Amino acid sequence: SSMHDELEKLLDTTTGAEREVSKKDFEGFKNLFHRFLQVKGPSVEWIKIQRPPEDSIQPYDKIAARGLPDNVANSLNKLVVVKLNGGLGTSMGCKGPKSLISVRNENTFLDLTVQQIEHLNKTYNTDVPLVLMNSFNTDEDTKKILQKYTHHRVKIHTFNQSRYPRVNKESLLPVSTNLSMNGQNAEGWYPPGHGDIYASFYNSGLLDQLIEQGKEYIFVSNIDNLGATVDLHILHHLVSQPNGKRCEFVMEVTDKTRADVKGGTLIQYEGKLRLLEIAQVPKAHVDEFKSVSKFKIFNTNNLWISLPAIKRLQEQNAMDMEIIVNPKTLDGGQNVIQLETAVGAAIKCFDNALGINVPRSRFLPVKTTSDLLLVMSNLYSLEAGSLTMSPKREFPTTPHVKLGSSFTKVQEYLIRFESIPDMLELDHLTVSGDVTFGKNVSLKGTVIIIANHGDRIDIPAGSMLENKIVSGNLRI
Ligand code: UTP
Repeated sequence: SSMHDELEKLLDTTTGAEREVSKKDFEGFKNLFHRFLQVKGPSVEWIKIQRPPEDSIQPYDKIAARGLPDNVANSLNKLVVVKLNGGLGTSMGCKGPKSLISVRNENTFLDLTVQQIEHLNKTYNTDVPLVLMNSFNTDEDTKKILQKYTHHRVKIHTFNQSRYPRVNKESLLPVSTNLSMNGQNAEGWYPPGHGDIYASFYNSGLLDQLIEQGKEYIFVSNIDNLGATVDLHILHHLVSQPNGKRCEFVMEVTDKTRADVKGGTLIQYEGKLRLLEIAQVPKAHVDEFKSVSKFKIFNTNNLWISLPAIKRLQEQNAMDMEIIVNPKTLDGGQNVIQLETAVGAAIKCFDNALGINVPRSRFLPVKTTSDLLLVMSNLYSLEAGSLTMSPKREFPTTPHVKLGSSFTKVQEYLIRFESIPDMLELDHLTVSGDVTFGKNVSLKGTVIIIANHGDRIDIPAGSMLENKIVSGNLRI
């Protein structure tokens, strides 16, 4: 086919190791592309969707109530922590890997992760390793930084996910003419989503290596989820199941609020637990999907997966994930698509898969500077790399924070706060336009600050704003 010829041409633009890596990548890509061409219609029939059976999504409290054994170290030595580190910090206006953005007291996402695992290893005298799944976008910068952890008590491994070609939306042919990442060509390539973890982990050889060392489970999560710490109760639950009943996959889900319309949910489909993402929902049912009453929980992307099961499914070619078609427009205006998969979508392939409904605190993603403001504030305290909500907050819910477009980029956001305001009693904050905050500002209840175009509002140092609207020269 023409795709095959185009890929061969691309391979001929390089030699040696790069050619070999790309060849492997292209095998995966050809599979995905072939499946994409075959797909007809939606991947689920709406009427076949069922509510998951009672015991297939268990409350976290029930799992935790069983307590912990004396030999926690035994369980920990079967565990590997994997962080998805393929993504960039572009949505917060940063160049380079997202994991290298400072989130709290100069610590980056990566620093916090390393501190957490190091703390575990010191506490239990274990050697839980950290594995980073990098992409071609993040590998070089990440590796440079990793040197600073050489004397920490945590062994860090990395492997690279695949690099796939973006294809033109109409012709469906690769837009790159060259394997190099120089100039315009760079736009022609993408990391194909975190579902790529299974194939690239397997292909890297690291999966086998870890199995040989006696590792049984990976705990996978988004590196930008600050709530995704190693949970000993879930781990113990996994390793204490009798043989034959071994749960090969746990998805941590949490209760939806009206703000969580995006995340995937768990359904029962053809006798198996399955992840249903909004992209798979027929238009006529989107509102139903978003509702909190019918689909009560969503995927946190904190996943516990059996290493031998990954190996088995890869070798049987049985890892099956729905294709996500992600349309993009390149700088030059060309419309392209990139084919992706999501790690959680493979849940249906594993035996005895289980959902665990965890407290909201295990889902603390930092996607925007509004999220960043919350985690930098006195709402949280930091201990051994983990953030916990301050006991001084009366209700353990996070305030709703909406910072306007002048705050989107981390650099600009930081300049606008001389210090992070006291937010212990805040419920809702909306800020729009050219606004700055002096030192030691305190925000309580609902606060709305709107600087109109051409105006600037400087909140003076030491102010206390409680249930206030500040707008232009009008102060209520
Ligand atoms: P995203 O940054 O895409 O966040 O990836 P999201 O919008 O919540 O996406 P979904 O809904 O979970 O897909 C989440 C994590 O996955 C990593 C990112 O680095 C981040 O930690 N990621 C994403 C990869 O490692 N590789 C990819 O190809 C995509």
